[in-house]
Amino acid sequence: MQFDKPATTNPIDQLKVVGKPIHRIDGELKTTGRAMYAYEWHDPKMPYVYGYPVGSAIASGRIKTMDVSAAKKSPGVLAVVTTLDVGELTKGKFNTANLFGGDKVQHYHQAVAVVVAETFEQARAAAALVKVDYAEEEGVFDLKEAMKTALKPDESAEPDSAAGDFESAFKSAPVAFDQTYTTPDQSHAMMEPHASIAAWDGDQLSLWTSSQMIDWWRSDLATTLGIDKEKIHLMSPFIGGGFGGKLFLRADAVLAAFAAKETGRPVKVALPRPFLMNNTTHRPATIQRLRIGAGHDGKITAIAHESWSGDQPGGQLETAVNQTRLLYAGANRMTAMRLATLHLPEGNAMRAPGEAPGLMALEIAMDEMAEKLGIDPVEFRIINDTQVDPEKPERPFSHRDLVGCLKRGSDQFGWASRGKPGSRREGDWLVGMGVAAAFRNNLVLPSGARVRLGQDGVVTVETDMTDIGTGSYTIIAQTAAEMMGLGIDKVAVQLGDSRFPVSAGSGGQFGANSATSGVYAACVKLREAVAKKLGFNSDDVVFENGEVRSGNRAVPLAEAAGADGLVGEDTIKWGDLTETHQQSTFGAHFVEVGVDVATGETRIRRMLAVCAAGRILNPITARSQVIGAMTMGVGGALSEELAVDTRRGFFVNHDLAGYEVPVHADIPHQEVIFMDETDPYSSPMKAKGIGELGLCGVSAAIANAIYNATGIRLRNYPMTLDKLIGGLPDVA
Ligand code: MOS
Repeated sequence: MQFDKPATTNPIDQLKVVGKPIHRIDGELKTTGRAMYAYEWHDPKMPYVYGYPVGSAIASGRIKTMDVSAAKKSPGVLAVVTTLDVGELTKGKFNTANLFGGDKVQHYHQAVAVVVAETFEQARAAAALVKVDYAEEEGVFDLKEAMKTALKPDESAEPDSAAGDFESAFKSAPVAFDQTYTTPDQSHAMMEPHASIAAWDGDQLSLWTSSQMIDWWRSDLATTLGIDKEKIHLMSPFIGGGFGGKLFLRADAVLAAFAAKETGRPVKVALPRPFLMNNTTHRPATIQRLRIGAGHDGKITAIAHESWSGDQPGGQLETAVNQTRLLYAGANRMTAMRLATLHLPEGNAMRAPGEAPGLMALEIAMDEMAEKLGIDPVEFRIINDTQVDPEKPERPFSHRDLVGCLKRGSDQFGWASRGKPGSRREGDWLVGMGVAAAFRNNLVLPSGARVRLGQDGVVTVETDMTDIGTGSYTIIAQTAAEMMGLGIDKVAVQLGDSRFPVSAGSGGQFGANSATSGVYAACVKLREAVAKKLGFNSDDVVFENGEVRSGNRAVPLAEAAGADGLVGEDTIKWGDLTETHQQSTFGAHFVEVGVDVATGETRIRRMLAVCAAGRILNPITARSQVIGAMTMGVGGALSEELAVDTRRGFFVNHDLAGYEVPVHADIPHQEVIFMDETDPYSSPMKAKGIGELGLCGVSAAIANAIYNATGIRLRNYPMTLDKLIGGLPDVA
């Protein structure tokens, strides 16, 4: 199905199942421990052995020799496969740094060997015996230094944008503002580490893994192994979080495949937690400069956002300025991004890549500018709303209700009671409120699905879409149920298998809208097949209550299926509606914090997100996405930072003891409101993404609340107590 015109009324609009607060259909499997995650995959016929990775102890250079003799003699060891043994491998399309193979070391903890043994403990013990002789080369690890020689990437990365004449408008602006902000390297820190089980049957590889994008992984694994993609069967039905860290093929899959080949046994490889932060990808640190000029009326006349980030040679920008291209009005504007070469582990996508760190800076700058103008920060954002792409005013937003979110949120949160900075104290706590806009574009990707109607009247959906904890199983079941006129108990959903049609996968908050649209398209085909089989005119056919009706005939779906059943399969493809119209999602975050006057410790007291993101397919799973994202934003504001050893080039705090993410006790009260809206430009579902929107802006709202509480303006994340304590008032 080609989607190239705004959606009109369709069966989804009945909203008998879609839009309802239905609990996860996979919830019971997960809460009872029966959902099998990659490493847990169990088949009594397959005697698994264990692979343990060895990581490079240098950040940059070459491996001269490796001595694996002691490891090979260690108890239980079946094989040691080294990066020198396998030789140089062809990199997958989506990998910047080598995952394995060859003598070149591009970053610390790059996989250099896998030790295979009968037990996990034997493999781990033997891995410690592998000796590597390196020829170390000098690397660049400090972004502050490297930014001085950062370069403008290729135009295809769209590093620059401009409209009007920023420099002269900024110079002549009645009120002008210029500040620099920093965001640190961050780690996805998902609960389930990267893990794979590989088993070969002749030249056929079965791989159970934890992947957000089945087809990308399958293709890149085929390239890396030098085999035909059709030879790989990849399965990832349950995933314990990804946040972008599992978008692209990782070392566990490659190591498991080589280890299984070498030993002739199925091999399990999980990346140990202390290995994960440096072996896999991370969100790159940024340095961002914001300049804003405005009239005394609060109208922005000039806005500029520049950002510097670093990555491995051949790597990518952290696109931190992209929101500033679209979020606020202003005739004169410029953005620019520059990329430094760093020999740290590979930078890559992490939840709301670009947007999250970009808004961490922009939305503090907006707060600072509002204060400079003497205008309430909610009002300042409303004054500068735009209904068109400010760089290309002929391009409207498909639907934009940022103003509605800000107004609804400030009423709900009691924003009017916010006082001057440092004016509210409750015992030892300095209390303050902050606000920030949330903004994330709505992306769409082609997405396929197959739906089977069985003679039992059950519809089974098959798609390689993944559920990374987001609720994909449930919203896909809701979509099929709505389309086929069934209750959700009559729909079965099978995901995450490369034998199924290629879907959008989970990423960039495109998954829910794209994948359900693919299921919609497949169901349209199945409806046609049912109508055709019954000789119904497909224009007047109605699917309702488990029946299909036309004129005065009504046939139960089970009967229509017959003994052979019926199948519908299709892929949704997208026309140019994302070009003609800017499709985005919007929100407003409100946060109240307390800062301990003696210790500088910040505690979140209340959080509210108001989101405008098209039709909400399921308010329970959508809310869960948003509160999870808000929690992640608390980490981003207060604790998360990969500490860089700028001499040796690695992330020092590479475990969950040193890399601190919030826990439940850190989050006392969260509320989420969804604006009641649909966006017919987005898809037949009229829905948009929500999973990354929830993170966008949260950390800045917290920073702004800290300022309101203490009068101390912090511009460098995370906002730890050491940065506050010197500026706090006397305890006495
Ligand atoms: Mo997301 S960072 O595209 O999983």
